[in-house]
Amino acid sequence: VTDMGGKLQQVLLTEEQIGRRLDEMAAQIDADYEGRDLLLVGVLKGAVYAMADLSRRLHRSVPMDWMAVSSYGSGTRSSGVVRILKDLDSDITGRDVLIVEDIIDSGLTLSWLVGNLSSRGASSVEIASVLRKPGAAKVEVGVKYVGFDIPTEFVVGYGLDYAENYRNLSVIGTLRPEVYGA
Ligand code: PRP
Ligand code: MN
Ligand code: MG
Repeated sequence: VTDMGGKLQQVLLTEEQIGRRLDEMAAQIDADYEGRDLLLVGVLKGAVYAMADLSRRLHRSVPMDWMAVSSYGSGTRSSGVVRILKDLDSDITGRDVLIVEDIIDSGLTLSWLVGNLSSRGASSVEIASVLRKPGAAKVEVGVKYVGFDIPTEFVVGYGLDYAENYRNLSVIGTLRPEVYGA
C-alpha cells in the first residue's frame, strides 16, 4: 500500500520511481559481474524488499545469504553499536560479495560490515543500497551502487521501519510528527 491510514507526511519516492532505479542498478550489476559468480548478502531486516526486487531484476541465477546486524534499536537514532544478530550461513572465502541494503545513514553499519566480510577472505565486497543520506554520514563508505541520495530526514517504507512498523509500505516517505507522539 502507499499510505497507512494517513500516517505519511510526504512521499519521497513512489513505487515506480524505486522500480525504475532498481532496473538501472540491476543492469549495471549484470554488466559489472559478467562472467563472475556473485553472492548477494542482504542485511536483515531492512533489506528484504531491496533484495527481493533487485535480485529478480538480474539476468542470472544468484545465491543469497543474510546477516542481521543492528545499530538502531527501536528508536530513530543510530547508536553506533553494531551487533551480529544472525551470521551468514555460507563461507565467503574467495567469493565476490555484494551487500544489499535499504539505506546508508551514518554509514556505521556498512563500514563495519564491509570490514567484517573482507576479513573473512572475500575476493571483493561491494555495496548496493537503495538510499543514502549524505548529510548524516559519520564515516565514509565506498558504495558502488546507490539508488537515491535523500535529505537527512527520518524515512519509512520499502523495508525501513519506525519501531518495527511501516516496513511494508510500498513507497518511501516521512511520517507525520504526531506518529512519534510529538
Ligand atoms: C537500519 C538500516 C540500515 C542501517 C543504516 O537498520 O536498515 O541497515 O540502519 O544505519 P547506519 O548507516 O546509521 O548504520 P536497523 O539497524 O534499524 O535494523 P533493521 O534493518 O532491522 O531495521
Ligand atoms: Mn537494516
Ligand atoms: Mg531499523
